[in-house]
Amino acid sequence: MDDFLSANRDHWDELAELHPGTDFYDVESFVGGETSLMDLEREELADVVGDETSLLHLQCHFGMDTLSWAREGATVTGVDFSPKAIETARELRDEVGISERRARFVESDVYELPETLDDEFDAHGDGAVRDFDVVFTSYGALVWLPDLDRWADVVTHFLKPGGTVYLAEIHPFFAMSEAVGDDGWIQLPYAYANDEPMPYETDEGSYADEDADLSKQTIYEWNHGVGDIVTALVGAGLDIKYVHEFPKSCYKRFDGMVEGDDGWWRLPDGPEIPMTLSVRATKPE
Ligand SMILES: C[S@@+](CC[C@H](N)C(=O)[O-])C[C@H]1O[C@@H](n2cnc3c(N)ncnc32)[C@H](O)[C@@H]1O
Repeated sequence: MDDFLSANRDHWDELAELHPGTDFYDVESFVGGETSLMDLEREELADVVGDETSLLHLQCHFGMDTLSWAREGATVTGVDFSPKAIETARELRDEVGISERRARFVESDVYELPETLDDEFDAHGDGAVRDFDVVFTSYGALVWLPDLDRWADVVTHFLKPGGTVYLAEIHPFFAMSEAVGDDGWIQLPYAYANDEPMPYETDEGSYADEDADLSKQTIYEWNHGVGDIVTALVGAGLDIKYVHEFPKSCYKRFDGMVEGDDGWWRLPDGPEIPMTLSVRATKPE
């Protein structure tokens, strides 16, 4: 793993320790039976996720969404490169009474996953699923990946013929923004798409707890434009079914946004800018 990914993994290990205790993640409600998934991905995947579906969740954090898909009937594999996230996901799985067969969690860098799961398959044989009906990823995942073409190859590698890849993501245009200025204009200090890593200092809290006292370190992000996402999927041999854009966000990115009864955040007085993106594609039969 290179220096960028290694710095990012340290940061995510720290967040995996912090996040389960935050109101944002509300683990108590999840343990009580509520889903952590947004209505968007549940509705857009309703026709393909159900009993007997095998689902691979890339960059699953500490597993709430992965386990929510298991509650919808799927047999799930959650993957994350943070050992703390994977440890917590397994504990959460045991706490909510889902079996290891229905939900397994694998510690791996996304790019190394083909090798990681092949090794597991060699060790455990048929018990270790390595091709899937659905590959899922969501909200804040792609920005940690330097190379989307390699990511799309990994996705294709794990899809069965006819299988579906689905992502619900922070829109790359929204990822450019930081605040609404005093003049009412939305400030866009970040790049729409950057090949070079964009460095950030981590002492400013997390999206789930803006007052959190995090270790000071430099982390790296890569914003990917819509064209890059679509082109990567097409380049990996997948058929795009749709690209949807929505003027609502699953989290409060800056002051002035208001949460609706549906759990989505909007800018009531601002222009309708794209904040969320969903993309669905299939692997040809
Ligand atoms: C914003 S979180 C995903 C959040 C998820 N939608 C949720 O709300 O739980 C991004 C996740 O990507 C993981 N991650 C970042 N880079 C990765 C990589 N190269 N390989 C695997 N996981 C990675 C982090 O550990 C983190 O758990």
